[in-house]
Order: sequence, then C-alpha cells, then structure tokens
Amino acid sequence: MRVLSGIQPSGKLHIGNYFGAMQQFVEMQNQDAECFFFIADYHAMTSVQDPAQLRANVEEVALGYLAVGIDPEKSVFFPQSQVPAVTELTWALSCVCPMGLLQRCVSYKDKVEQGLAPNHGLFYYPVLQAADIIIYDSDIVPVGQDQKQHIEVTRDLAIKFNNIYGDVLTVPKASIRENTAVIPGLDGRKMSKSYDNTLELFTPQGPTKKKIMRIPTDSTPMEDPKDPDACTVFTLLKLFADEAEQQHWRKRYTEGGMGYGEVKKRLFELSNETLDPFRARYEELKKDMDYVRDVLNEGGKKARAAADVVMERVRSAVGLR
Ligand code: ADP
Ligand code: TRP
Repeated sequence: MRVLSGIQPSGKLHIGNYFGAMQQFVEMQNQDAECFFFIADYHAMTSVQDPAQLRANVEEVALGYLAVGIDPEKSVFFPQSQVPAVTELTWALSCVCPMGLLQRCVSYKDKVEQGLAPNHGLFYYPVLQAADIIIYDSDIVPVGQDQKQHIEVTRDLAIKFNNIYGDVLTVPKASIRENTAVIPGLDGRKMSKSYDNTLELFTPQGPTKKKIMRIPTDSTPMEDPKDPDACTVFTLLKLFADEAEQQHWRKRYTEGGMGYGEVKKRLFELSNETLDPFRARYEELKKDMDYVRDVLNEGGKKARAAADVVMERVRSAVGLR
C-alpha cells in the first residue's frame, strides 16, 4: 500500500495541520505502508511570488515535517519541484479534465475571496494536485476535510483517463479522521494560516500562552453552567487531553463554578506536553540546515525514480512513445 500527502509551504505550520494531517502521516509511516510526503512548492507559487520568501517557507515546512517525526529512513520526503515530471502528468490530466469539474471546486472561489489573484494556476491547482497523487501510484491520501473535494477530483480524473486509455492509473482514496477533520481556530472559524487564527507548532511557550489566554469566550458568569461543546477552548483541549481529563473538564463546565481562565491555563499546560518535544527538535534541526537539504535531495532522487515508472506508462498509453 502506498500513502502520499503534501503540504504547501505558504506559512508557519499549526496544530490544525498537525492534528488534521501530519499526525496521520507519522502514524502511517510507522505502520506497514510505503510513504511519500512532500512540500508542495509548485502549489505555493499560486500565492507566494517572492523567491526568497518561497525558499524560506520551504525550509520552514521541511523543518516542520522532520520535527513532528517524519523519518527520512522510513518515508520518501522531498520537495514537489524535484520531480518536474509532475507538471507533464498535469498536462496529460488536463486534457481529460472537463472545465465544469474545476468550476465546481470551492477552494478557488474561497481563495479569491480571501484576496489571492485569480490566476490560471490557482484555478487548475486541483489538476496539479491530482498529478502529485497519481504519479506515485498512491492508494491512500491522508488529509484534513478541506482537501476532500480535491481527492474526489483526483479520483474522477484517474477514472476518466483509464476509460480512454485503459487501466493505466491507480485510483486513490482519501483518509480523513472524523474527530480531527476540521480543527477550529482561535476565533472559532477553521484554523488556517490565511485567517491569522492559529496556534503554531513551533512558536515558544510565551507567545503561545498569550494567544491561548486571549481566546474569545462567551460572557456566562463564573458560577453558571457552561456548554463545553460550544467552546473553542474545550474543543482544543480535547486534542491534547486523555479521555479521563476530557471527562473531568466536561463536568467542570456543566456543573458551573468554573472560570474560562482556569481551563485556558490547563490547555496551555497540556499543549506543552505535546509541543515541547516538537519545539526542541525544530530548534535542533534548524542548526543543521545542510542535513535538512541533504535529506530533501535524497528524497528527491527516490521520488523521481518512482515517478518515472508511472510517467513511462502514461507516455506509452497516450501515444507519445
Ligand atoms: P492552511 O489552511 O493553514 O493553509 P494547508 O492548506 O497548508 O493549511 O493544509 C495542509 C494540510 O493540513 C491539509 O491536509 C489540510 O487538510 C490540513 N489542515 C489545515 N488546516 C486544518 C484544520 N483547521 N483542521 C484540520 N486539518 C487541517
Ligand atoms: N492542496 C494541499 C493543501 O493545500 C496540498 C497538496 C498539494 C496536497 N498536493 C497534494 C495534499 C497531494 C495531498 C496530496 O493542503
């Protein structure tokens, strides 16, 4: 079984990326799967058009993957652009892709509403994403809920291609975890780099504590019962707390007499148990960027070799050989 996923280097990684996607990557890597994880630098060109910024973002996300536990001995880990053939497969897929399929994708409209330029790259971004997945014969794609539609487009394109050219491409499936599919941000909307509502994975304790203590809550008086399921602080606490501790706080909310300051303080402490080891590893790796670059180049070689196999099949199938 082959697992593949990617993350765009468009800013600092946050706990939505971790619990929605990266935690699954690490678990799958430690099971019996062949894993490919990459940094979607071609995709980031749709929004980051400053070359120095793009380079810095790629390094940031590379550190991030390694710091949360991606092990280059177990997974093929690489920048997307080290496999230029993926753009060739994008073209082949574009030629079987109905315009309507892309017009129905919500991410283009969302991103334009957020202020991104409505360029063609942004519009056909899902075709490049489909090529990313298909070029490694991927079976399973672990992602958060917001990527579900893109995996459906990928399946559609693989099936359309196979209908025309025979049984050439593997049709993948998404792996989305119900309970962590959409992590809310500090303002209650989906946590996202674009909304400035994130808890970052590698930011030190001090600024993280400030952000947690400022999470907006309702004005229910201290002594009254509160609804844990309507509270962002509780939703975030659930990510870090074991079952017994979740039950404890559920009871504290519903019986009243609890101030939000108290549960925020506990959220901060619990988050440190998960994030402190990530922060330490991130700082350590940052001192050895040569190692990080070597890892990416080695991963690039392995990824190119795997992609070549599928591309040769595609070229033959369409009549370019
Ligand atoms: P962002 O929205 O911050 O730009 P990305 O689009 O780079 O995040 O997402 C990278 C991965 O993290 C994807 O698999 C995506 O589904 C997942 N992800 C991002 N935000 C969340 C969230 N709030 N909840 C769950 N998963 C998320
Ligand atoms: N579109 C994804 C995101 O914004 C990143 C991505 C690009 C991806 N190619 C992929 C995810 C292939 C999974 C598989 O997060």
